[in-house]
Amino acid sequence: MALLELNRVSKRFGGLLAVNQVSFSINEGVVAFIVGPNGAGKTTLFNLIAGVFHPDEGNIHFASKEISQLSPDRAVHLGIGRTFQIVRPLRNLSVLENTMLGAFLHTRSPAKAAEEAEKVLRFLQMGNAMHLPARGLSLPMLKRLEIARALATRPKLILLDEVVAGLSTSEALALAELLRRLPEWGISAVAGVEHVMQVVMRMADRVIVLDHGTMIGEGTPQEMVRKPEVIEAYLGSKYKELGL
Ligand SMILES: Nc1ncnc2c1ncn2[C@@H]1O[C@H](COP(=O)(O)OP(=O)(O)OP(=O)(O)O)[C@@H](O)[C@H]1O
Ligand SMILES: [Mg+2]
Repeated sequence: MALLELNRVSKRFGGLLAVNQVSFSINEGVVAFIVGPNGAGKTTLFNLIAGVFHPDEGNIHFASKEISQLSPDRAVHLGIGRTFQIVRPLRNLSVLENTMLGAFLHTRSPAKAAEEAEKVLRFLQMGNAMHLPARGLSLPMLKRLEIARALATRPKLILLDEVVAGLSTSEALALAELLRRLPEWGISAVAGVEHVMQVVMRMADRVIVLDHGTMIGEGTPQEMVRKPEVIEAYLGSKYKELGL
């Protein structure tokens, strides 16, 4: 069953068509990655799904319900969790407190929120950093904190916007290994944006390729890295690095 469905979705910023007639669906149990060059519209697409922006044309359905005009707050309540490409925790709160903010979505009890946040943080191997202030965390830890906050909201769909960007290859692959276990958290589907092709190849069931706001391909990672339009618009030298 399709958990998320986009039907001819477009979004303009003034004269710029950032997302152009994009249609795809993500079924339950699927990990889908959106790739494409800088400025392709990937984050804008996430913002449309998460209710930050609304489509100028087309519509979006989540769990068979139209969500095109929903606020971000309502989207989170429906089970759409997300991370931000630019990490921005509340710097003076601890790692645990930042994660509890996610858990407060479904409980008013600070004790319950703390318990849930602790579980999530241990899963993400951040147990030792729990009581540190968010300011001063290293980038790999900040990225994990972003994921922790999203996980603590108990999403059905999680939107991960470049969570391994800026990490070393070994850190990126270690995080990817953890992300493969997201279904343990009751997450039905994952949508990620990522430039690190090794991670995309390892994690994705489906890959959606965007270029200048338009979808230029959709399929398995293996299909996409062989598609001439995708190689030309995006992969280029990355294709050679992969040695496929
Ligand atoms: N709030 C906004 N106002 C005006 N233009 C915007 C806004 N957000 C994005 N854009 C423009 O829309 C286009 C798509 O941007 P978007 O951030 O979605 O790309 P992206 O694929 O996420 O790129 P990156 O890989 O660099 O993160 C770009 O040309 C960008 O400058
Ligand atoms: Mg982006």
